[in-house]
Amino acid sequence: MFYITTAIDYTNGTPHIGHAYEKVLADVIHRYQKLKGNDSHFLTGVDQHGQKVQQTAEAEGVNPNTYVRRVTKGFSQAWEKLGLSYDSWAETTNPLHKSCVQQILNTLFEQGQIYKKQYKGFYSIRQEQFLTDKERNEDGEFGPEWGVVEERDEENYYFRLSEHVSWLREFVESHKDFVLPHFRRADVLNAIERSEGNDLCISRPKERLRWGIELPFDTDFVTFVWFDALINYISFAGYQKDPSSELPDFDSLWPANLHVIGKDILVPSHSIYWPIMLHAMGFDDAQIPSLLVHGWWNKKGGKVSKSEMTKEEAALMDPIHLVEIFGQDAVRYYLVRDIHTGKDSNYEPERLVMLFNTELANNLGNLCNRALNMTKRYSAGVTVSSSYDDASCQTLRESFAKTLEQYQTAMDQYEISQALTAVIEFITRANIFAEEHKPWEIAKDETKTEELNAVLAHMVEVVALASVLLRPVIPHACERIQAQLKAPELSELKLSELKWGVLPIGHEVAKPKPIFPRIELPS
Ligand code: ME8
Ligand code: MG
Repeated sequence: MFYITTAIDYTNGTPHIGHAYEKVLADVIHRYQKLKGNDSHFLTGVDQHGQKVQQTAEAEGVNPNTYVRRVTKGFSQAWEKLGLSYDSWAETTNPLHKSCVQQILNTLFEQGQIYKKQYKGFYSIRQEQFLTDKERNEDGEFGPEWGVVEERDEENYYFRLSEHVSWLREFVESHKDFVLPHFRRADVLNAIERSEGNDLCISRPKERLRWGIELPFDTDFVTFVWFDALINYISFAGYQKDPSSELPDFDSLWPANLHVIGKDILVPSHSIYWPIMLHAMGFDDAQIPSLLVHGWWNKKGGKVSKSEMTKEEAALMDPIHLVEIFGQDAVRYYLVRDIHTGKDSNYEPERLVMLFNTELANNLGNLCNRALNMTKRYSAGVTVSSSYDDASCQTLRESFAKTLEQYQTAMDQYEISQALTAVIEFITRANIFAEEHKPWEIAKDETKTEELNAVLAHMVEVVALASVLLRPVIPHACERIQAQLKAPELSELKLSELKWGVLPIGHEVAKPKPIFPRIELPS
């Protein structure tokens, strides 16, 4: 079983294309696993507790619960529009999750992994964490990245992170694939050095923060939001579940194969707190999941945040609005096409439009349209067996094996953009093949019927093969292509069964309707 999760998004704002990217990336990997014939389970959801949520709700004058319900709906609606196919949905206010967090807290408390102490120090409200001298910059100040920093003197509960740091260092050094892509590992090892000697404050006094999960052993406190949120990966997978609950069977899911997260939450939460929490709970090294760390979509050099934009610009950051104007296929395609997994990219709606029009509308859409139209017109919609063969036919057929290999290698490394390049090149070759043979001209020459039949069958076959390979990225479009091919059975095909000739000669296709009508930016 492949088990894949994403970060759970803070419900202190509405979803933007950065959130959408991460969810689409995970959905593509999940669907690709299924294309390979693997069972795959996809968990995503929302992170509903914490100071930021409490503050945003207060600013709107509503209670946090009302606020969180409304904002959560915005996320699930966006994900529905984007066609995400997750199996489980995490909401951290869910009682099943809360009770799992409390059980874990109790166990760690009983084991002496959690203790209480008085602490005086500086606290970053933005990052919701205490700062140490290591967080000061060269001038001895806490830099702007920490936002408002307050001095605080209070009692809290601490988790004995420092006891496990040497285990973590060894674990990270000996498990090369813990962090993907590999170049991010240096960040983790540096952060481990910096964290040395510090335990993790896991409580917040209720007088400061009420919106959280109460500590089961001291009701004057709620749980630090990260300690609560990270547990979603196991609570919604059925960890220590009540046997009567409908949660999945934990042992069949765990360890997760991949936690898909952004680079901003690699350290300290996912590469320090989380593996140490699991280790302290008794999970062994083989039970610690890998992290797939993606980069950011940036706008004009900065991170996408709607606060400094015009209304029109902000609308183009909103995934629901984007799908409404450009369609699900265009948005999904762009978000995984124009970025290398692990690296940053600049978000430009102009490129969304351009890539859709060139690669989907003009390339795949055109091939599909021509292939089906001419098959309809010249051979009653049925592909016909032919004795014609030549070097260009052979080259096109043979190039599929290479396409498949490039696609699979890239997808297995989560390099979606490279996999798409391989498929697009294959489609381009088929369009060039059509230009060379000019079926629209040879159709007028009765001596060339054999060639015509061969060329049309080749073109139809490329459309069929592409509709299988592109399914993880643009499932909706592929379903419509397969309906026009009158071959819904292609949707059941596994990658290992995919080879030239998936559509038998003599197959009847339907009349084409444009799958990818060209799009343009709203003026
Ligand atoms: O960090 N480009 O929530 P979050 C790409 N609740 N990815 C982006 C992005 C951008 N411009 N902006 C944000 C949290 N993300 C916590 C996670 S997990 C147990 C708790 C990504 O709403 C970001 O990197 O701030 C993160 O992976 C996800 O969106 C949620 O960010
Ligand atoms: Mg697994």
